[in-house]
Amino acid sequence: MKIIQFRYDSDNLGYLIHDGEEAVAIDPGDPGFVLDYIREAGLRLKEIRNTHSHSDHTSGNRTLADKTGAPVVDSTGADHFYIGEEMIEVIPTPGHTRDSVCFKGEGWVITGDTLFIANVGNCLPGLAGTFRESLDRLLQLPDETVIYPGHDYTERSLRRAREIEPDNPDIKRFTDSYNPPPIVSTIGDEKRINPYLRTDEPAVIAYLRENGKDVERSLGRFQSFLE
Ligand SMILES: [Fe+2]
Repeated sequence: MKIIQFRYDSDNLGYLIHDGEEAVAIDPGDPGFVLDYIREAGLRLKEIRNTHSHSDHTSGNRTLADKTGAPVVDSTGADHFYIGEEMIEVIPTPGHTRDSVCFKGEGWVITGDTLFIANVGNCLPGLAGTFRESLDRLLQLPDETVIYPGHDYTERSLRRAREIEPDNPDIKRFTDSYNPPPIVSTIGDEKRINPYLRTDEPAVIAYLRENGKDVERSLGRFQSFLE
């Protein structure tokens, strides 16, 4: 299975997943790129799907559907779909929106606006606990699972992570070896560098305390980061 990442607008990331014959487009905000790619590679576009319903992710759906005849398929409530023989799992990850999902194949996961490199998406009011559970669901994937995010905020996210944990050697190591494209991370690296996933670390707790945030409960710490 191949995962083709493409950038559109200023920092959005869309994906084309294919097995050499059949392809599924995820958040195809640049339909022109997808059309060129499938034509040159001789692929059949089976479906168009979205990680969530925000318009910057769905804006290319209509054009791509009109030009290819591929249906736009709602992934909420589904638990998997196929590309050729390979099953792609749909993981419900509400929090950023109620309809947010992630798509997981063999060794990789497309995370939309749920999980970014060294960062997470913003969260709907009142859904911090739900969002945290969604992120925990992703953290149960094997450490070597490759993460394909929905936006490239990486530079400023890494800068902020370094401000929060200046003595965390893994942030420097990640930054030094980070070599896009593609814009990717892994579950293991995110556990080591992403401050939003590290709210039980003494250094992160100290940072929040210095900034006058609620540090009593783990969820409170997570929540105070999102505010
Ligand atoms: Fe979004």
